Amino acid sequence: MPVPAEFVWGVASSAYQIEGAVSDDGRSPSSWDAFCEQDGRVFNGHSGEVACDHYHRLEEDTDLIAGLGVGAYRLSVSWPRVLPEVTGRVNEAGLAYYDRLIDALLARGVDPWVTLYHWDHPQAMQEQGGWLNRDSADWFAEYAAVVVDRLSDRVRHWMTINEPQIFIGLGHVSGEHAPGLKLSRREALLVSHHALLAHGKGVEAIRNHARTDPVIGWAPVGDVVVPIDESTGSVEAARQLMFTVREPDRAWAFNNTWFADPVVHGHYPEDAIALFGADAPDVQSGDMEQICQPIDFYGMNTYSARVARMGESGAELVEFPPGHPRTAFGWAVTPEAMYWGPKFLSERYKLPICVTENGLASMDWVGLDGGVADTGRIDFLARYIGQLERAVREGVDVQGYFHWSILDNFEWAEGYRMRFGLVHVDYETQARTAKASYHWYRDVIARGGVAQAFEGSNASTGDA
Ligand code: FCB
Repeated sequence: MPVPAEFVWGVASSAYQIEGAVSDDGRSPSSWDAFCEQDGRVFNGHSGEVACDHYHRLEEDTDLIAGLGVGAYRLSVSWPRVLPEVTGRVNEAGLAYYDRLIDALLARGVDPWVTLYHWDHPQAMQEQGGWLNRDSADWFAEYAAVVVDRLSDRVRHWMTINEPQIFIGLGHVSGEHAPGLKLSRREALLVSHHALLAHGKGVEAIRNHARTDPVIGWAPVGDVVVPIDESTGSVEAARQLMFTVREPDRAWAFNNTWFADPVVHGHYPEDAIALFGADAPDVQSGDMEQICQPIDFYGMNTYSARVARMGESGAELVEFPPGHPRTAFGWAVTPEAMYWGPKFLSERYKLPICVTENGLASMDWVGLDGGVADTGRIDFLARYIGQLERAVREGVDVQGYFHWSILDNFEWAEGYRMRFGLVHVDYETQARTAKASYHWYRDVIARGGVAQAFEGSNASTGDA
């Protein structure tokens, strides 16, 4: 049974990871440019200075996107291109670039889904305290309004922020991502409160400024927990662990409920408030109403899951056995994340789910025959998408799937050594080569799902 015709098949990217052109047309430095300049921060001193040079290769790259037959492309706007000084002066040339990109997509029949914040805020904002400054939420709302004013005649789908868990957990707690801070728990929790306020004010700005009826979501990445087997006890253990704030098991920042309960339910989870005590953020009157704006979909970025069972003394996490399959990044291959993730999230938050990112890093190269034989990616996707189809079949409201990513790109602290693309990029020549997975995903889309793509062949879909 194919997925319903209205299911959105897509592919994703983000501005800093592919655009390059960091000084073109009045763009100011971003927090990531500044971070990359510091010694020892990014693998081999790589940076997004050139990246995939996508800024100058719109026609070729939008041809590749459209060639997949996707209905939608998830892109992000670079704040320092649009408001180089954070607020105030609007940079016309920066907006004109996004006009060109969106027009190129629409001309090819691809619907743009736009993320407003995928981590690259102006460095000038950092110099005013960045997300630690409570005014950051208003700055973000101003930026959102400018983008929506300009693009919403053609863009309907918006996401406010990408993965608060990561830009806070890695950017403000462990210091591995820009801006490279290791804040105290108290300060990092304040950052998260400001980011949530920014989300809420951003939603409001989108609704107030949109010229066509907007569809609004966000794209968080909390830990997905799957049951070790489908017994009632294991399922309950997974559900519990997915929605509790645990510490010191893992940093609190990677949790679901700390971010999503305020956004969807309008309050912080009680277990977290008890755990954080005096470190909990100072919530001012009206904040929770501001954060909890109606949204239309819950974006789910998911790469891997943790596994749970019910032990003697309650729900517990289980280690993966030795030799469990892992991607080049070391992330465990856990296709069931695509079944249990949407199921648990839609149960708790009662919103349509859209997989806004899923994919894997693998060490691909261009073969002697000129192709890229990334069979591991095909197997991974067959398993993951197969599990997503199971969720859809069982009635979970999943509206779409966006593969991360269209191109190999700048993978943050890992630089260019992690290749996530359906298209291989030679960073010396900027040559693009569609990988085997590109052709495979195109067939999946054309046939309406992986089950159909494998029909009549002897290939196995594994867990799918
Ligand atoms: C996510 C990010 C995305 C990309 C993938 C691999 O955490 O949102 O930009 O780096 O991981």
